[in-house]
Amino acid sequence: MPRYHTLGKIPKKRHTIFKNENGDFYYEELFGTIGFDGMSSLLYHTNRPTQVKQVLKSYSVAPKIAIEKNMKSLSLRGFEIQPTEDFLESRKTVLVNSDCHIVLASPTKSLTSYFYKNTDSDEVIFIHEGSGKLRTHFGNINFEYGDYLVIPRGMIYQIDFNTSENRLFIVESKSPVYTPKRYRNWFGQHLEHSPYCERDLHPPYELETYDEKGDFLMKVKKQDMIHEYIYAAHPFSVVGWDGYNFPYKFSIHDFEPITGRLHMPPPIHQTFETSAFVICSFVPRMYDYHPLSVPAPYNHSNIDSDEVLYYVDGDFMSRNNIKRGQITLHPAGIPHGPHPGSMERSIGKKETQELAVMVDTFAPLMVTEEAITMLDEDYFKSWVDK
Ligand SMILES: [Fe+2]
Repeated sequence: MPRYHTLGKIPKKRHTIFKNENGDFYYEELFGTIGFDGMSSLLYHTNRPTQVKQVLKSYSVAPKIAIEKNMKSLSLRGFEIQPTEDFLESRKTVLVNSDCHIVLASPTKSLTSYFYKNTDSDEVIFIHEGSGKLRTHFGNINFEYGDYLVIPRGMIYQIDFNTSENRLFIVESKSPVYTPKRYRNWFGQHLEHSPYCERDLHPPYELETYDEKGDFLMKVKKQDMIHEYIYAAHPFSVVGWDGYNFPYKFSIHDFEPITGRLHMPPPIHQTFETSAFVICSFVPRMYDYHPLSVPAPYNHSNIDSDEVLYYVDGDFMSRNNIKRGQITLHPAGIPHGPHPGSMERSIGKKETQELAVMVDTFAPLMVTEEAITMLDEDYFKSWVDK
């Protein structure tokens, strides 16, 4: 997050003695990224955050690959993912490459019995259905329909859900997730042409601090393994922090669309970037206003990136028979475009209510066994004239 934030209490100077009213020390931790070169925060703990008491089992959660080299346009019925009580078990990776995992999840219970952290991927959790509170050692963030929760690697978290009806679209990224560089000035501030600004980015607002000893189970994800650790001190032990590295939320409903007289290309929808893929938001907007404009997109050869669309709500104008929670993958190497009839249908239309999230990866995606269970076999033929 290219912005400074602070929560709770911190000493006047960094790296100096800091104690509570009883004279007990608080323990400082630098939480940095990209060695000591990336964004970082300084945290102050009631107990040392290093107290590993036991290392329990480790097990693989590596996705099982069904199609390693895919060249077919695919469609997945994403809402067929099975609701599952446990948050980690509910997460099903459907598309994957060495840069990212694209995951669907429908957890029915809050994550409260253990703590979780992903140590080699940033997580972007898009809330399609459900609401609740993300609880992290940097503080809490309330979430609801349409929120992107951006959780940098290493953040320790739990999640409270308000109901058992939750649908999540998750992207795990091996490289850091940033707001697009071209939206920011040389100081990092979002520019006037950016479709959102700092007011729309919500950092943690509430800090939960525990000064407790005991047995605290932490599930740590690294290299497609879960490692189970028992810590001797409560992981939410932070009394205060400041810096640039922290989780935050951004609502897709706060993305202000950029429109034009003629069809605008996908980069105008860009919301986040990494070194290996982009995340875009398609939101309700006015259509192109040239008298001869064709609002539907032109056919396009995204010759060197795989294009994943996750359909959230509303009519998706360039596609036929699209359902909520559906995922389409249009692979690099072959052109795709509007479905038969949708280009003609779009002419003269003034606006669209479509809501969708797009992930364009620069490296090809592999298809997992989980994805195969919800595959629409004939989707690749859907552009043929009837
Ligand atoms: Fe496309």
